[in-house]
Amino acid sequence: MTTAPPAAANVEQPGAAPDAVAFVLNGRPVTVSAGHPHLLAALREELDVTSPKDGCSPTGQCGCCTVMLDDKAQVACQIPLAKAAGRRVTTLEGVDEPERQRYARAFAACGGLQCGFCIPGIVMRAKAQVDKKGNGLARQDMARHLGAHLCRCTGYVKILDAIELVASGREALPGPAGGVGSRGPRYQAEALALGDRGYIDDLRVPGMLHAALRLTDHARAGVIRIETSQAVAAPGVVAVFTAADIPGDLRVGIINKDWPVMVPEGGRTSYAGDVLAVVVAESRQAAREATELVKVSYEPLEPLTDAVAALASPDVAVWGTESNLLSRSAYARGDVDAALSKSAHVVHERFETQRVEHAFLEPESTLAVPRPDGGLHVYSGGQGVWDDRDQVAAVLGVGRDLVSVELVSNGGAFGGKEDMSNQAQTALAAWLLGRPVKCTLSREESFLMHPKRHPIRMEYWAGCDRDGHLTAVRARMTGDSGAYASVGMKVLERAAGHATGPYRVPAVDVESLAVRTNNPICGAFRGFGANQAQFAMEGVMDRLAEQVGITGWEMRKRNVLHPGDRWGPGQVMDEGCAGAERCLDVLGPRYEEARRAGKAVGIGLGLKNSGLGNGFKEVTRAVVRFRGDGRVEVRHGWTEMGQGIHTVALQVAVEELGIDGDQVDVIVDTSRELGQGQTTGSRGTLMGAGAVRNACQAAKADGCRLEVDYQGEHRVDWTHKIGEVDNPVIHSAFGYAAQLVIADPESGDIERVVAAHDVGRAVNPTLCEGQVEGSVHMGLGYALTEEFPSDERGFPTKTTLRSLNILRPKDVPPIEVVLVEVPQPRSPYGIKGVGEIGLVPTAGAVAAALHEVDGQWRSTLPMRPVRPAGPVAG
Ligand code: FES
Ligand code: FES
Repeated sequence: MTTAPPAAANVEQPGAAPDAVAFVLNGRPVTVSAGHPHLLAALREELDVTSPKDGCSPTGQCGCCTVMLDDKAQVACQIPLAKAAGRRVTTLEGVDEPERQRYARAFAACGGLQCGFCIPGIVMRAKAQVDKKGNGLARQDMARHLGAHLCRCTGYVKILDAIELVASGREALPGPAGGVGSRGPRYQAEALALGDRGYIDDLRVPGMLHAALRLTDHARAGVIRIETSQAVAAPGVVAVFTAADIPGDLRVGIINKDWPVMVPEGGRTSYAGDVLAVVVAESRQAAREATELVKVSYEPLEPLTDAVAALASPDVAVWGTESNLLSRSAYARGDVDAALSKSAHVVHERFETQRVEHAFLEPESTLAVPRPDGGLHVYSGGQGVWDDRDQVAAVLGVGRDLVSVELVSNGGAFGGKEDMSNQAQTALAAWLLGRPVKCTLSREESFLMHPKRHPIRMEYWAGCDRDGHLTAVRARMTGDSGAYASVGMKVLERAAGHATGPYRVPAVDVESLAVRTNNPICGAFRGFGANQAQFAMEGVMDRLAEQVGITGWEMRKRNVLHPGDRWGPGQVMDEGCAGAERCLDVLGPRYEEARRAGKAVGIGLGLKNSGLGNGFKEVTRAVVRFRGDGRVEVRHGWTEMGQGIHTVALQVAVEELGIDGDQVDVIVDTSRELGQGQTTGSRGTLMGAGAVRNACQAAKADGCRLEVDYQGEHRVDWTHKIGEVDNPVIHSAFGYAAQLVIADPESGDIERVVAAHDVGRAVNPTLCEGQVEGSVHMGLGYALTEEFPSDERGFPTKTTLRSLNILRPKDVPPIEVVLVEVPQPRSPYGIKGVGEIGLVPTAGAVAAALHEVDGQWRSTLPMRPVRPAGPVAG
């Protein structure tokens, strides 16, 4: 293990600080080069101290890099090195072991972490407060102090539980990992809490170089010339590569191969995240600085930034494509016009949702290392490492056997790491140089490059009879998919499918368009089109309920799907759909109680498919192997990104094999052919559990012999495309949820959210609750505050984490989760999937509650709170 030479030596300026800075790190005197831009860079890049994570340096807005400077918790990326001189710096590595373990056990026992990326910083902040106040530390106080931190996964509920537990002085005892249905700790929870389990940017290998990307200055411009000579001559720079150096395919893409790895001279840029060159240097700082020396001449073109205008424009937004219409999804059944004309009540309304940034806390990072056999080993945090392997091999122009990809569980993704970000450019550099190369995006680059949640304009016509029974729905949707396809066509297809929510509608007519523009790319994001559609449909339900004169709850009760009913695109629903009504019934008494108490109350009901469906043949595999050293390897095909798929795999192995969870190593890499596309569509738990269970059963049937790969498979190859057969099974399973939002009737402040979720079977109820809490937090932000707009140039107008207006801990109301288990037929253990449904009903429920406050119907997201929150701390 070595560290690249510090960047500072190459960039020192006259009059700058002395050459070296000395301070005491974790009780030990250290001296570092003075040229680091901040303390965090010195810790991570020169001293190899990696528990403080870099989520946003140098902006100081995520809290992931929190350390103690003397006895005060501070974000290290905001501490100039000169300020650290002579001071005591303490990171988690330097905290006493018994104390470290107290925090680690508390977070593990409470389920206080998911991807874990934010947690080491939060632990340091918590330590500062617990040291000061002990068991007098109030939960609200701690929430306020966490204002300098972001967690995108947990909703903070279980983080605060864990900190309260430590502050109380009570001993946390995370139980052993148990079988299916047990509340054991997350796989590797304690190492994650302490920052000991590395993410890609924490990896160091001998001889490692650093890469940085030169992005375009224009979202739509012809590229005339890319001049690299100045950059090549810069201190520390080893090489600069452009598209001309790509030996294989220029373009990649999960579905359409339309996304250039780099735009060549003579080509045309299509969005603000296009890459023009990759600079490789001895240090990260040298690489970054040299990107500015890559000079590019352009022929700027007018970007197309409005989806409706792009549809009508003769200009083609995206280089190498022929039309701005990416896809059209449509279906109809029944006579909508006749049904609407006979309806007692009709609504016609336009809804509009916003573009949203995932804001996973770990920016994208890739490490590519030449193999001794002449191949290349790539460490990726992507959501489909087999897709990464195939695409990297195609870009290099080599066979797949020469590229292996290993998953390093990432620091959050939520759909935003399905497409490759910097994997291909990093692999190319390592391949051409024959040396290990790492590339980690800055927060700003991450914002520019990866796909977002689609903004969708939706026009709805809906009717019901005088008792409130739905008669017909017509929906027209136009989604701005940005430049490259990603999975935009599938998102708009899913929005179309979910247009009528979990309701029985006799006549339906839906059309949904995905449109290419020069705006930021939109693709997969938790909910995948279902959120947008159901915000509109829930709005329709509440407006109709008002016309009928019944409550929102009653309106939903009268229309909710029952087994045997036909769902939107025509699927006859199975017994699993009883979960929708069960969720509604669970919340009924709470809904009435809150209304009687004079609260402003909104309810939302939603469904979200699990699995790809639509006729796609889904086959996933897993391998169980008993090793000679007594350990049991469980290999599966899904990306761990905080949702807990590794824990699910482990618990299934414990359930089926009766082994101790501590014996199990969970591995995802391309050494076996286990891949089945992206970890998407809430299917990892369902499919993965099925494959691991079957692998375990194969092992048991054969006596669990040592060093044998026992393979298991789970198939869902019996779904249909819309219109393929009379009674299609479009999706094999759905998750269902009802959410109750209770607000102050005067201020509109949200006081509580109660979320009833039918997950079929909770493999680990603690992890399930955490998923829902995190989703509700994300859903409240989606409803009220978050957006990621772009300007007339196609560039995002928000460039920092803080500007996204993600809700901070003190602004998150109490979230109560009720897990419902209505088993899914034909699914392992009855599992339905929970990854995405969590925020599907939230925005609709918030809109209904706010309508009770001021009588205004809201049809555009974000809605903004009735009374804006106070200034954000930190
Ligand atoms: S990396 Fe320092 S606050 Fe985000
Ligand atoms: S656990 Fe907090 S960001 Fe993932």
